[in-house]
Amino acid sequence: MRTFPPYRAQVVTEIPITTRPQREQALAAAGYNAFNLPANMVTIDLLTDSGTGAVSTAQEAAATAADRSYAGSESFFRFRSVLSELTHYPHILPVHQGRAAERVLFSAVLAPGRISLSNTHFDTTRANVELLGAEARDLPCAEFGDLDSREPFKGNIDLAAAEQILTGPDGNRVGMMLVTITNNGGGGQPVSMANLRAASKLCRAHGVPIFLDAARFAENAWLVIQRESGYQDKTPREVAEEAFGLVDGCVASLKKDGISPMGAFIGLNDAELAQRCETNLIATEGFRTYGGLGAHDLDRVAQGLREVLDPNYLGARAAEAARLAQQANDAGVDIVQPPGIHALYLNAGRLLPHLPASRFPGHALACELYLEGGIRCVELGSLYLGTLDEHNELVTPAPFELVRIALPRRVYTQGHFDYVAEVLADIAKNPERVPGYRIVEAPATLRHFNLRMAPA
Ligand code: F0G
Repeated sequence: MRTFPPYRAQVVTEIPITTRPQREQALAAAGYNAFNLPANMVTIDLLTDSGTGAVSTAQEAAATAADRSYAGSESFFRFRSVLSELTHYPHILPVHQGRAAERVLFSAVLAPGRISLSNTHFDTTRANVELLGAEARDLPCAEFGDLDSREPFKGNIDLAAAEQILTGPDGNRVGMMLVTITNNGGGGQPVSMANLRAASKLCRAHGVPIFLDAARFAENAWLVIQRESGYQDKTPREVAEEAFGLVDGCVASLKKDGISPMGAFIGLNDAELAQRCETNLIATEGFRTYGGLGAHDLDRVAQGLREVLDPNYLGARAAEAARLAQQANDAGVDIVQPPGIHALYLNAGRLLPHLPASRFPGHALACELYLEGGIRCVELGSLYLGTLDEHNELVTPAPFELVRIALPRRVYTQGHFDYVAEVLADIAKNPERVPGYRIVEAPATLRHFNLRMAPA
C-alpha cells in the first residue's frame, strides 16, 4: 500500500542548529541529564510523544471557538460527546493530564495493602499506586523478555501469572487490573484483543475491576488490524470501541492519541465509582465540566480524537516508525522487535558491550545522540530501573539497557528521520568510542528527572 502523511504544514517553527562544542557545554551544564537541557539547545526532540504533537488548523479553529463557561460549557459537551461515542462509557470526567486521572481513579479503587496488576505500569502510574500504600505488580508476557523476537503482541499481560495471584494467598488483596495499550514501559508493544478479552473474563470471574490505560488506544487498534487475525477488515474506530467495551472503564492521557498539548479523561461504567471520582475531581482538579482543563484544550482534544482514528494517518505514522527501525537495523543498531508506533527502543546494551551496566550504556547512547546530532531522547535501563547503593553505585541492573526514541505526532518529516538515522549510523561505526557515565547526585524519588551525571 502507498502511504504518505494526510496533512501538510501551514505554519512552521524554526529549530535550533548548534555546534558540537556548544552541545558539549550545554550537556555538561545540564549534569548530563537531558531533562535539564533548555529546549533551545535541542535540534531534534525525541524525548516524548506526549503533548508534543502538531495541532491541526481544525483543532485551532475549534480552540478559538471554545466556550470558557465555568459550568456546563459547550466545549465540555463536545468533549464528552466524542468520548461517549468512542468508549460508550456513561460517565466521562475530564482531567488535566493522565497522572491526575490515575490519582483520582486509583484513590477510589485502591487502599493500603491492595495490589494493582498490569502488563506494565507506566512510571507515574506505578507512583500513583504506591503513593496510596498499594503495590504495583508488572506481569508482562514471557515473549517480551526476548527483545529480538517478532511475536506480534509482546505487550500482552501474562494471564497465567495473573490467575496464579488471583487464586493464591494474595488473591483477595487484588484491587484492580490495569492494561496499558500500547505498553509504553514494555517497548511500546501492542496488546491483542484476544488477550484483553481473556483478561476481562479472568477479572470478572474474580470480581476484580479491569481498566485500560488507553493513552495510545488508536495506535494499539492500528497494530491489532495489522497483526491479529479476524481484524483486517475493521476500522481503527471499531477496534478501539471493542477494546473499551471489554473493560469496566479507563484512564487516558490525551496528550498522546488526543494529539493535544494537554488533557486526559476517566471513563467509567459504574455510577457509584464515577460519583466518588467526581467528588475527588472537584476537590482537587476542577469542576466536572472542565476538570482542570482550559476550554480550548477540551475542544482541541475533541477534534484531535476525530483525526487520530484516520487510517491514512495511522498507516503513515506506522510506516514512518517502521522505516526508521529499518534504517537503525541497517546501521547495525538493534531495536526492540517488532517496531511499534510511538517510539523505537534501541538496544544500547548490545551496541555498547564495552560498557558494563554500572556505566549505564543506555544513558551513554542517549548522551552520544545529543553530542553527535543534537537529538534528545531518554534512557530506559539501569539508570531508570536499577537499584543503587548509598554511594550511587549500581547494585541491581535492569533486565535491558534501552534508549527510547519517541516520535512526536505530525511534527518531523522523513528528512528529519533520515538525519536521525545518519547520526545513529555514525555512532554505530565506532561504538567503542562512546564513554560510560557515573552518577554524581541522585535524589531518592523520581531519580531520572533530577540526577546529575559525569563521564566515567
Ligand atoms: N500512561 C502512559 C502509558 C503514559 O505513557 C503516560 C505518559 C501516562 C500514563 C501519564 O500521562 O503524561 O498525561 O500525565 N507518558 C509520557 C511519556 C510522559 O513520555 O511516555 P500524562
